Order: sequence, then C-alpha cells, then structure tokens
Amino acid sequence: MKELLDRKNIPQHIAIIMDGNGRWAQKKGAMRVFGHRNALTAVRESIEMATELGIKYLTLYAFSTENWSRPQDEIQALMEILVNSIVKEVPTMMENNITLSSIGDISSLPKGAQEKLQEAYETTKNNDGLTVYLALSYSGRWEIQQAVKSIAKKVVDGHLDIEEITQAQIAAHLNTKNIPDPELLIRTSGELRISNFLLWQLAYTELYFTEVLWPDFRKEHLVEAILDYQRRERRFGKTGAQIKSKG
Ligand code: IPE
Ligand code: IPE
Ligand code: MG
Repeated sequence: MKELLDRKNIPQHIAIIMDGNGRWAQKKGAMRVFGHRNALTAVRESIEMATELGIKYLTLYAFSTENWSRPQDEIQALMEILVNSIVKEVPTMMENNITLSSIGDISSLPKGAQEKLQEAYETTKNNDGLTVYLALSYSGRWEIQQAVKSIAKKVVDGHLDIEEITQAQIAAHLNTKNIPDPELLIRTSGELRISNFLLWQLAYTELYFTEVLWPDFRKEHLVEAILDYQRRERRFGKTGAQIKSKG
C-alpha cells in the first residue's frame, strides 16, 4: 500500500491524538492501564513509518492538561509507562537519527519524568531526521494563555508595540514556534473531537478520524491516513478552480 503514496505529497508534519487505550483494555476484560502498557507498539510503528516516508515532524498527544483529573493511580501508571518507554526507546532513536522533544507544561510532571525527558532531549538533540514531539500536560488553551501572558509582559515592559502583535508574533510565542502547522491530524478510537489539541495550529489542517483503537494502530493505518489526505483538495479559502489552475 505504501507504493500507492505520492512521494511528492507527503505531509511534513503529522499530529496524532492517540486515543482508545482504556476501551481497548476493557474489551479484553482488562484494567485500563493494560491499554496504556500496550500502546508502545503503535507509537513505535508510527515513528518507523514516519521515518521511512521522510516526514519531518510527528506530534503525539500523550497526556492532556485535562487528563490530570483522571484517577490518581491511572495518572501514576501513565507517568511510569512514559518514563520507562522513553528510556527504552532512546537507543533506537539514536540508530534512526530521531530527535525527541516535547510541548506542554513539562514542569508539572513528576521530577523523575522530567529528568528522563531532559536526558533523552540532550542525547538525541543533534539528530537531524524525524523530530518526535510528545505533547505532555498539553492543551491548546493553556498554550494560548501562556502566549498571551508573555506577549502582554513584553508590551507592559515596553519591548513590543501593540501594532506588532501580528499572527506571526502570536505563533512565535507558542510551544510550536519552530514547527510548521500540521498538514494532517489523525485521531483514533472513533471520537470526533479535537479535545483541546493544537487549537491555533489546526486552523487549516486536514482531519482524519479512524475507529481503530490506538493500541491496534499500525504502519498500514498511517499509510491509509496519508492516502486519504492525498485525495483531498486543500483550498485555504480559495475556489477549486483557482487551486487547479496553479497546476
Ligand atoms: C488515550 O487513551 C491515552 C490518554 C488519554 C492518556 P484513553 O485512556 O483516553 O482511552 P479511552 O478513550 O478511555 O478508551
Ligand atoms: C485526548 O484524549 C488526550 C490524549 C489522547 C492524550 P482523551 O481521552 O483525554 O479525550 P476526551 O476526554 O475523550 O475528549
Ligand atoms: Mg480517551
């Protein structure tokens, strides 16, 4: 199926809302945490396929600001799985020239998790293949709130004029300041919502929803999503005729 892809029209940046771990486990009669433990294969396969296709950025929604209101034991298990997975995956990331980074309120994570993340950033920072951004304790409204605060401070301190608050300035104050907006957003598990992910950045992103639960997501599912993306006409407000006349 990979052969069907138009290699000249592969998204540079794909964002994924990795949803459905709990339901996957419950369908098997297991505890929700069992689903989180079995999510790593899906992460690995997505990263591998992204690398094979030469995608530059992959942003994975791993833990939202709102997820802090889950039961304490689930949060703790998620954090442990996160730390263990990162430690385990760093050698493979090095082999495959992958950089690990993150967006979100990292300072709100447990100290141990912060340290392991920091180590992984340091180790992988000079790789220049795919960059994987983990969205951790992230939400779009939180991110916009942070941006508004820092812009307001610059204005109050006299470093920025109100007239200089352009859309580019706002984007430059977001966690994603160094990354282009995603061309494609994928959400697994059949939910048809954004759940506070990348609110600013998704303005013109193509949305793709699949019933597949995240622990079952495999390389072919990512290829399927990109094939679907390639069948779309991205108009950005223009007419279809205008887009076609550009060739
Ligand atoms: C996604 O799976 C993982 C996180 C949100 C951390 P869920 O845990 O939301 O699984 P469902 O949606 O309850 O099935
Ligand atoms: C979104 O999933 C967040 C992540 C995948 C990390 P949720 O399962 O938290 O979303 P809602 O609550 O169903 O909208
Ligand atoms: Mg969910």
